[in-house]
Order: sequence, then structure tokens, then C-alpha cells
Amino acid sequence: MKTQVAIIGAGPSGLLLGQLLHRAGIDTVILERQTPDYVLGRIRAGVLEQGTVDLLREAGVAERMDREGLVHEGVELLVGGRRQRLDLKALTGGKTVMVYGQTEVTRDLMQARQASGAPIVYSASQVQLHGLDSSQPFVTFEQDGRRLRVDCDYIAGCDGFHGVSRQSIPAGVLKQYERVYPFGWLGLLADTPPVNHELIYAHHERGFVLCSQRSHSRSRYYLQVPLQERVEDWSDERFWEELKARLPEDVAARLVTGAALEKSIAPLRSQVVEPMQFGRLFLLGDAAHIVPPTGAKGLNLAASDVNYLYRILVKVYREGRTDLLAQYSPLALRRVWKGERFSWFMTQLLHDFGEHQDDWDRKMQEADREYYLSSPAGLVNIAENYVGLPFEAVE
Ligand code: APR
Ligand code: PHB
Repeated sequence: MKTQVAIIGAGPSGLLLGQLLHRAGIDTVILERQTPDYVLGRIRAGVLEQGTVDLLREAGVAERMDREGLVHEGVELLVGGRRQRLDLKALTGGKTVMVYGQTEVTRDLMQARQASGAPIVYSASQVQLHGLDSSQPFVTFEQDGRRLRVDCDYIAGCDGFHGVSRQSIPAGVLKQYERVYPFGWLGLLADTPPVNHELIYAHHERGFVLCSQRSHSRSRYYLQVPLQERVEDWSDERFWEELKARLPEDVAARLVTGAALEKSIAPLRSQVVEPMQFGRLFLLGDAAHIVPPTGAKGLNLAASDVNYLYRILVKVYREGRTDLLAQYSPLALRRVWKGERFSWFMTQLLHDFGEHQDDWDRKMQEADREYYLSSPAGLVNIAENYVGLPFEAVE
């Protein structure tokens, strides 16, 4: 096979990049290790920044999102019994976020790929990248016991943090930055109406809580839990009881409980590798960075990387601007680090660090909460990051 851009991974990063490039007349082949059902079975976050929404519209995959997604003009922050609504729209000069599950974004992108007729190979095993620092890179993989090869101009590594792309870069090239947190999130998805029309992020001495949603009839809740906690030890009843204990009485009284459709525990961590390019390989999304979910930035940072690489590749193919390729990593990383900072900050602000925090840090955390929730500048700071910082121009 021969193509212009070989894309490794059919998560949101790979599919969105493939769709945008296809519409720009640039050929791609997508190689995915799993089956479509497996990819769609992963439950992930559900808040899209304005810039991500705009990019999905540009990619021509926004029809169902615009019909079924919920535009949210605010979120609520609860700290120490105090309830502070963050009026995102007023604080950011009109910006909002869209509540629409990552699973649905992925489903829409998969359908668009299928409709376009552009090649996508599922259940591709033993994917290997070759000639990354040459002018003729290629990818080999196995399908149904046959070994196949894709020759290309560039490779987009969109295969998540455990993928092969990052691991194909020679040792010593990448610098890795990491922060692990001493807790995880226990998530529960249920077909019950959300407890509140807007998301609630709550700090409580028993631990952080997030009340999120996927639609008017489907809720997603999260509880901060110690890292050693096991999901088997959390019956639905125990989950709902603990959630109520961490919410103000009036909110808890409105909570509608029901059987869990899904329940899982995810550890929280921050991770970034630099640079996001090696020769003809570019890293995007989770292949280059992980954020804790507190800022709702995972999918949005993936879309941010796609935005930059897409605009660069269009100029490369249309205008011969190969000089821009070296700009991808610095451009992408400038925005990634701001998203990492915000995700780290929200995690730091709202969680209970228990014995992992000394008295000084506890006082600083309290002062931060007090300041950010009472100062107009503090509220603008959180709001402008939550709706998403602007993209830089590619020129
Ligand atoms: N070969 C081919 N495909 C692979 C390989 C491999 N060796 N390794 C992983 N993959 C596939 C995975 O099966 C997965 O479908 O790459 C895809 C990566 O998708 P994601 O992990 O969803 O990463 P990304 O597309 O960057 O999306 C980022 O997803 O993980 C969340 O929080 C994250 O919301 C963010 C978003
Ligand atoms: C979710 O709905 O899964 C969700 C929403 C906001 C977050 C994290 C997760 O910050």
C-alpha cells in the first residue's frame, strides 16, 4: 500500500486527523490494533471545548453533536458548603462548552471514515514503524496472518500512551515529565437523570466528587478513592451512599439512583513527552501526553494537536511549506503545557491529599480555594481555561 500520511491508532485523534486530511484531499491509511466494538466500548470523558466543537464542525462530523449535544453555559464549584456557579459564558465573552460523550464523537468519526471510503484497517497487529529519520518512512503490520507494508510521506502516531509510536523513537531523544497523584477516580455511568442541569465539581473532606452527564437521561458520577481501592468492593448501593455523603443535603435529596451501566477506577496522572516529533513521525493526543480528568482536557488536547498537524500538513502539500513541520512540536506543546497546568491545578485545588500533604500545603490549598472562588479574576482564570484557550495561527 502507498499513502501520504499513515495514521497509527483509530481513537479520536487518529480518526479526526484522518477525516480532516481526507476532506483536504490528502490520502491517509489508518491502522488500529483493536476492533471497532472494542474502541467504542471505552467510556471516557464528555466535555468539548469551543475549539474542539469548531474543529468537529470543520471536519463535517458535527451534525449529531449539534442535534444531541448539550451546550453548557456554566459549571458549579462546591467547596466547604459554599456553592459558586462559574458563568462560563459571561466570564469568557460568550464561550461555552458542549457536553457530548467521547464515545459518540468516536462513533460519528468512524461512520464518516466508512462513508468516505478511505482505508482503515482494524485488528492490525505487530505494527512497526521504519525509516523515521529517512525521507521514505514505512509501516509494517500483520492482518489475518499476512505481513503488509504501507509506504508514506509522514506518520501520525495517534496510538495512545501504550502505543508503538512513541516507543519507536530511539532512546535518549525524548524527555518525559511526570506527576502521579495518590488517588484515583471511581466512575459510574447510569441511565438516570443528572442530579443538576450543569456539572458539579465538589471538594469535600471525604474526597472530591464530580457530577457529570451524557444526556438528560444519562448521568456520569465520579468519586475520589484511594489508589488501592478495588472496583469489586463498590456495590452500586455503596457508591450512591458515598456520593450522597459528599454532596450538600439539598443536592443529595434530588439524586436519582439506578443500576450502573459501567463502573471503573482510573488512577490520576500527568505525563508529557518532548519533543512531539522525531524525523517524519509526529505524536498526537495520548501518545504524547496524559492529563488527570479534573480539567476535562484529555480529548480537547488531542483535538488541539490534530488542529495544528492538520493545518501544517495542508500547507506542506498545497504550498510546499515543509519548513512548518519543525513548528508542530513547539506549537502543540505550548498549548499542551497550559492544559497540563490547568488539569494539575484543578486536581490540586479540589482533591483531598490526606497524609500526602503537609500543613503548609493544606493552608495554601485552602487559600487558593478561597481566592479563586471569591475573586472575579480568579473566576475568569478558571473559566477561560475550562472553555479552552485559543489556538495559535499556523503561518
Ligand atoms: N497499533 C495500532 N493501534 C494501536 C496500537 C498499536 N500498537 N496501540 C494502541 N493503538 C490504538 C488503541 O487501540 C486506540 O484505539 O490507538 C488508539 C488510541 O486511542 P486513544 O487512547 O483514545 O488516544 P487518542 O486518540 O489520542 O485520544 C485521546 O482519549 O484516552 C483518551 O483521555 C484521552 O480523551 C483523550 C483521548
Ligand atoms: C465526564 O463526563 O466523564 C467528565 C466530565 C468532566 C470532567 C471529567 C470527566 O472534568
